[in-house]
Amino acid sequence: MSDETSIDAPETAPVEVPALDRRLLEELEPEAGRLLDRHLKVTQEWFPHDFIPYRLGRDFDKDPWSPDQPRLTGVAQTAFEVGLLTEDNLPSYHRLIHGMFGKGDGAWLNWVGRWTAEEGRHAIVLRDYLVVTRNFDPTLLERGRMAQLQKGYDHDMPDTLHGLAYVAFQELATRISHRNTGRYSEDPVADRIMVRIAADENLHMVFYRDILKAAIALEPSAAVRAIVDEVLKFEMPGAGIQNFMRKAADIAKAGIYDLRVHRDEVLLPVLKFWGIFELQGLDAAAEDARRRLAEHLEKLDVAANKFEAKVRANEARALAAG
Ligand SMILES: [Fe+2]
Ligand SMILES: [Fe+2]
Repeated sequence: MSDETSIDAPETAPVEVPALDRRLLEELEPEAGRLLDRHLKVTQEWFPHDFIPYRLGRDFDKDPWSPDQPRLTGVAQTAFEVGLLTEDNLPSYHRLIHGMFGKGDGAWLNWVGRWTAEEGRHAIVLRDYLVVTRNFDPTLLERGRMAQLQKGYDHDMPDTLHGLAYVAFQELATRISHRNTGRYSEDPVADRIMVRIAADENLHMVFYRDILKAAIALEPSAAVRAIVDEVLKFEMPGAGIQNFMRKAADIAKAGIYDLRVHRDEVLLPVLKFWGIFELQGLDAAAEDARRRLAEHLEKLDVAANKFEAKVRANEARALAAG
């Protein structure tokens, strides 16, 4: 291929799979198959077009979008924007998760395919809703999507235990933030969409949570170390979105997703399900990690109390100012 017009495919280095990952993926494959079958039995088929009020649709060339059109409030708009841009980044997540599981047997690959297809629906229904209802500037949405996808989601390739721990927390975090966004929006159409998406995220969380439970039984110390690592450095998948810090702060102030929600509704229930603090016979490094985890949860509690007090004080000030 020395023809001037040809483009050489980039050389890809063979992926080196660590021995522990290879063994875990192999040993957990029957459980992945069982959990995938369970998922397929309980999940319900649904269609984005059933959730969109198309009667509200108007052509943008005749009637361009303008800022007075949205009926959602500022924070609800922000939460929808962040929710959609997060879902938009699916190609990056697929690449990572496929890389993590793709070396395994059929059940892992089938799960990744199924999960990706279901996630794709979330961006479709959110975009259709925002565009048809004019609740968000469609030009900004598209520019945001372009920026987000070109940036990608460039995390280090996680090993199996770190990857499973992250996605278990992340799916639950996404479920709760979508659900609370719907409730906060006070729009029955938006709420119905978010209830539907949150039900999917819940089933995703349950798959990852349960497969990691099986991994803990096989490799308790390595699993605890991985879980603690992921709790300590947890970041929402939308962290790469432009102005994410400001947007996340607004979303937290509105109570849609804040430290209290993160600690009490995401971290604690999953850690309890895994029985992290009851595990026996851990090695010294895992014991140390568990101690750091307890300290971290304590610090989060203090920080969440402080944040809540600040929000309450601001609300009282705003009320007094009339
Ligand atoms: Fe999703
Ligand atoms: Fe999900």
